[in-house]
Parts: sequence; structure tokens; C-alpha cells
Amino acid sequence: MSRPLDEQVFADRVLNDWLDGMGLGIEYTRAEGNTLYFTDGDGQEVAVLDHVCGFGALIFGHHDPEIVEHAKSVLDRQIPVFAQLSRQSHAQDLAAMLNAILRREVPDTGPGYAAIFANSGAEAIEICMKHAELERQARVAKLVQEVDAHIEAARQALREGRATVGEDPQVRPEQSGDGLDPGEALIAEVERRNAALLARGPVYLALEHAFHGKLVASVQLTRNPVWRVPFASLGPSTVFLPPDRPEAMKAAVEGVRESLWDVVLDDGVVNAVARDYPVIGAFFVEPVQGANGMRPLTEASARAIRAVCDEVGCPLVVDEIHSGMGRTGAFFASSHMGLRGDYYTLAKSLGGGIAKNSVALFHRDRFRPEFEVIHSSTFAKDGFSGALARKVLDMLEAEGGRAYARAAERGDRLREVLESVRAEFPDVVDAVEGIGLMLGLEFTDQSQASSDPIGEPARAGTLGYVIAGYVLREHRIRVLPVGPAGNSVRFEPSVHLTDEDIARTGAALRDVCAILRHQEGHRLVR
Ligand code: F0G
Repeated sequence: MSRPLDEQVFADRVLNDWLDGMGLGIEYTRAEGNTLYFTDGDGQEVAVLDHVCGFGALIFGHHDPEIVEHAKSVLDRQIPVFAQLSRQSHAQDLAAMLNAILRREVPDTGPGYAAIFANSGAEAIEICMKHAELERQARVAKLVQEVDAHIEAARQALREGRATVGEDPQVRPEQSGDGLDPGEALIAEVERRNAALLARGPVYLALEHAFHGKLVASVQLTRNPVWRVPFASLGPSTVFLPPDRPEAMKAAVEGVRESLWDVVLDDGVVNAVARDYPVIGAFFVEPVQGANGMRPLTEASARAIRAVCDEVGCPLVVDEIHSGMGRTGAFFASSHMGLRGDYYTLAKSLGGGIAKNSVALFHRDRFRPEFEVIHSSTFAKDGFSGALARKVLDMLEAEGGRAYARAAERGDRLREVLESVRAEFPDVVDAVEGIGLMLGLEFTDQSQASSDPIGEPARAGTLGYVIAGYVLREHRIRVLPVGPAGNSVRFEPSVHLTDEDIARTGAALRDVCAILRHQEGHRLVR
């Protein structure tokens, strides 16, 4: 295929050059199951085993025949795809089904969860941010109303000479003696401090290594500074907490908390007292951290996270965009660690590998019904993606959840092979992480490698891409690194992964490990 001249390239000019440099610049022309195909120079179709599977968006693989059949029949029946602001019962059907699954997997779901549909993962996350802000503002308004009433009562009592200011009123006016009496000065200072606090936006909590999206608000919850920092001024601030150190997590949360000043009138004495102010909007958590070598939370961290949210009173948002939809052997990965969310997000495989779809679920004890009216999107909740989502849920739930068992079993087989590679090459493989069909293999740090073609990309943080290019060229297997972790690769194939696929993957990894062990970097590059 002839390539357009540089000045004629209007899309992916930089990206394609970069992909070429890594040996990943291949155009795939067909996809089926766990296989992508490209056409080589002789016009022959070449099969590539796909371990990326749409960044984990293809639990049933590319073009699953049942899903494709369903998509065709939906189009043939001319179901309305876009009929915004009309009754759309598919939304209720999907939400009811998700609630049934939640009730089975998660204890204490109470009155269940209300659903708001969206188009992408990041959008579902931002919907959660918006809803959490509505919740927070309602709590702030209630608190402010109480404080205002107290201030009014104190002011009245001071004016009528029924009260005096306490000896140690907690709040000291910055400037006194400017004509205000001590009571008025105290109240003015309380109001000044409260106004400054009320003008501030919320702070969100997330975990170190978190990935929750790249839109202007969701990127604030994504830890990697390369993606987040240039846009920090556009969104609310986030405090990133260490999942495995509950005490440090608690201490960091204490550092974020704020107090609003209240004025109390007690027995003719007026004092200021600090009241807990809801500055924390929500705590966002991935049950399996995709950008952290595919690392599941431990039960202890899950408990610590839940405890923080209960203590602070903010919603816990369990981001199942990556880990949900059966990939880990249960519909919700969080159910493995007994983590109950106040909100949940799903996306990726919800689209059946064909459409784009996402959903945010809100516990109905917290749900603010006006949100259904004040949030909307042209494309969200469309009939086509709704029909496909229903199909995927039916397929996952069929035969007592055979697909979940299959994901767990295939994941275990793949993991066994990754573990055997690690056992054979402990000098170059650091860790195998993950659960079900969400696995990562981490190579040891190669930044001091004696072979330049290994050491240079390792220092640049791109060794994972170089390895991916090699595995693609020599073994016809597609892997990619885990987020910014440059020395690891991820595996998130579909439930259709075969024993032969797994064996081929093992052989390819052994080959890569031998290159690293013997420092034969020249073999990695063409
Ligand atoms: N949350 C999680 C846990 C994700 O893994 C992703 C995307 C998102 C949110 C954002 O979803 O891309 O649809 O806006 N993860 C991709 C990945 C990019 O590399 O696995 P999005």
C-alpha cells in the first residue's frame, strides 16, 4: 500500500510514525474471535492472536456470531435508534437486569441502583462526579442553613444584651477594634472564613496508579502525571491514596478534611465551634487496577476504602469499566473482595464489541431523582447499543453463568503458563498479576541492561512497546504494555481463548525472556 506524502497526512501523523518505530504500525483488515488479520505484501491474510481485545472491551471477542446476528436483526426490525425524550423501556430492562446481578453478587444492595446511561467510560465517570457534587451540595446547603440559623440567633441575643462572647471563642478575628463589638467581630470572622471555604470546589479521592479516563474531569482522577498535569487547571483536585497502607490512607484523608465554623449560643455565652464540612466529593476505586500491572485490591484495602467513605460520608465509586462484565470470573470484580459501592460504572464489553455504551449506577438511597432531568447526552441510551448490551448480559447470564466460569477457567490456564514462564525466568520476570482474563506480566527493570536495544527503551519507559512489536513480528501475537508501566505487558483476551492460543503465548514469552536473559537486544529490533 502506498503511503500518503507527509503534508497530505491529516490524521495520526505522529502516532503512526511512533507505532512504526515500535513495530506496531500494522493495519488490520478483519477481526474474528481472538484473532485480528492483516494482509501481507503478497496479498495473503495473516492471523494475529489478539491479547489486547479492544483494551478489554471484547469479553466475547471480535464479531461474536451471536452478537452480530442480534445486531443485524435489530437493524432489520428498524427499531428506533434515536428517540430521545420518549419512553425507552430498554433502559429499564437493562437496569433491572444489572440490579438482579448486583443483588446476587453484592450483599446489602437495599433498594437497588438507579441507572444513567452514557457513551464511554470517562463519560460514566464524569457523570458520577456530577452526581456526587449534587449530593455534596445538598449536604452543604443543609449545613449552611443550620449555621445561618445559629448565627442569626446569636446575633439577636448579642444585640439584645442576652449574651456575651465566650472567653475563648475558638475563632479570633484577624482585625479587631475597627468599631465592631466583640460579638459582631466574631460573627464577621466566622462568615469570612466560611465564605472562603464555600467558594472552593470539592476534592476527590482516588488510589495511586489509578486510571479513570482522560476527559477534563476524569483525567484529574488518573494518576499518571503525563496525562493529568497539563490539564490540572481545568478540573477539581484529587488526592491519591496508597491502597496497601490503610493507616497512611486514613492520615491523608484527615489532611483533606475541612471544618465549617458554626456559632453556638449556650447559656448566654456565644462561641464558635468547628463542624465537619463535606469537602470530599467521592472516592473512586478500580477493583483491579488496570494501570498498575493488573493488580486486584486486597480484601484489607477494600475494607479500608469502605471505612474511609463511611467515615467521611462520601460515595464510594467502584469503577468496573475495565474489570466488570465478567472478565474476572464474576460480573463485578469488586464482589471477589466484598467491596460494596455506592456508585458503579460499566463500559467496554457492555457494547458487545460493536457499539459504544456505558452506564453509571447509583444506590437509590443516595440517588437524586432530578439528575435524570438535568443530565443528558444526544447519543446516550440509544436503542442500538441498548439492544446489544441486553444481548451481552443475556449471554453472560446464560446457563447459570457459564461465561463467568469460562472466563475464570481460561484465565487460570493462561495464568499457569505466565507463572511457569516466571518460574523459568525469575531473573527477568518480576511478577504475574491479575485475576481471570485480566492479567499482567511484569519484566524486571532493564534500565541498566548491557544491551542498548534493551536498556535504551527501558530508560525511556517504552520497553513494553518494543517487546510488543517483537512478539507481533516474530510470533503474530498482539500484546500491549499496562498503562504507563513500560516494562510490563497485559493480557485481556476473550472467553474464546483456546489452549493452543495459550501455548503459543507461553512460547512467545519464553523467547522474549531468553532475549532479556542473554541480553540479545539486537534480536528485538529489525
Ligand atoms: N476507567 C477504567 C478503569 C478504565 O480502564 C478506562 C479506560 C476508563 C475508565 C476510561 O474509559 O476509555 O471508555 O473513556 N481504559 C483504557 C485502557 C484506556 O487502557 O484500558 P474510556
